[in-house]
Amino acid sequence: MKKRIVLLPGDGIGKEVINSAQDVLNAIAEEFNHSFTFETHEIGGAAIDLYGTPLPETTVDACKQADAVLLGAVGGPKWDNNPSHLRPERGLLGIRKALDLFANLRPIKGFKNLLHASPLKEEVVAGSDLLIVRELTGGIYFGTPSERRDNGQTVVDTLAYTRKEIERIVDKAFQAAQGRSGHLTSVDKANVLESSKMWREIVEEKKAQYPDVVVEHVLVDAAAMKLITNPTKFDVIVTENMFGDILSDEASVLTGSLGMLASASLSEDGVGLYEPVHGSAPDIAGKGIANPSAMILSAALMLRYSFQLNDEATLIEDAVQSVLDSGFHTADLHIPEGRQVGTEEMTRLIVDYIKSQNASKCIMSC
Ligand code: NAD
Ligand code: IPM
Ligand code: MN
Repeated sequence: MKKRIVLLPGDGIGKEVINSAQDVLNAIAEEFNHSFTFETHEIGGAAIDLYGTPLPETTVDACKQADAVLLGAVGGPKWDNNPSHLRPERGLLGIRKALDLFANLRPIKGFKNLLHASPLKEEVVAGSDLLIVRELTGGIYFGTPSERRDNGQTVVDTLAYTRKEIERIVDKAFQAAQGRSGHLTSVDKANVLESSKMWREIVEEKKAQYPDVVVEHVLVDAAAMKLITNPTKFDVIVTENMFGDILSDEASVLTGSLGMLASASLSEDGVGLYEPVHGSAPDIAGKGIANPSAMILSAALMLRYSFQLNDEATLIEDAVQSVLDSGFHTADLHIPEGRQVGTEEMTRLIVDYIKSQNASKCIMSC
């Protein structure tokens, strides 16, 4: 299979972990006889420094023409005091909007033998396996331009959703629930927000179309608590943009680190973008210690969702699990035993596993 992949490293550890994903994809291409070509473009702070904008047109055009996009992370202290339109994060929001990536799928599964890496009790975390379906192109992130009024004494951010925007993400979540255990939790703040009231109405309307799915509504504050006291009660969670952002970082503690969480940002039928849930991690950028797993697992999601290469995706996921099982881990995973390795060594171990597994399969069947 021939595929053109656009890489958007971005800033901070984004630049480091994207190399890991590329190494892993090169190993997959070699082992399975695929041809993946890579084209790198700037986004975020890197693009501001080079072109004076966080999202150059050339980047948008390249993404639109690609078969899939991998994004590292954007942002960093260098640009924190820039005016809003010149912040790196604007580049990320801009590419999500330009590609109409309304559905952000964030799977969260405790890795076998890593339960003790979570600060939560092992018996609480054991068996947790959930999917956050986050609406990604609407809500308060994209309201009428935020502004300061009254000589800076008043600030305004608006939260708007259209019926269509809610319907399409809710459909996506119902379908995801059908493919899993058939349980959907819709998270909102319907006791206060009008947008949440409409969200809840739409989920209720849609129920009839998906009679095999059991639906529950939970208010976001309670959901934040239940997520870490009783995570196994959740399967698919669907929620609006900002609630989904916050809950997914919270849910990362189930896996022991934000450095483990991958995501897929999908449109109706256009190009998909795959990005770790974490950011550019300025506190560890440049040290070579970032956990590449979230980025590598995002590349696996790309193979599965954009290219339907399920065996290849599963091999990558098995490789990450196997390297962790062998006791190797990056510093973000607080495991007293085992051996701490840096980004490059972790990547090499994952690549080696991929090569060894595929080679041994060939010896048996070729
Ligand atoms: P962050 O996710 O960058 O970091 C939070 C903490 O998690 C830090 O202590 C960091 O070292 C750690 N961490 C994150 N990923 C890790 C990994 N792969 N390996 C090891 N440790 C990891 O969040 P932040 O510090 O709040 O934000 C930093 C910058 O990143 C900000 O500019 C923010 O806007 C941006 N950001 C970007 C994205 C994105 O591009 N998708 C996502 C979140 C934050
Ligand atoms: C994420 C990030 C982004 C978001 C920021 C950097 C704009 O936190 O991808 O989770 O809030 O969507
Ligand atoms: Mn986030």
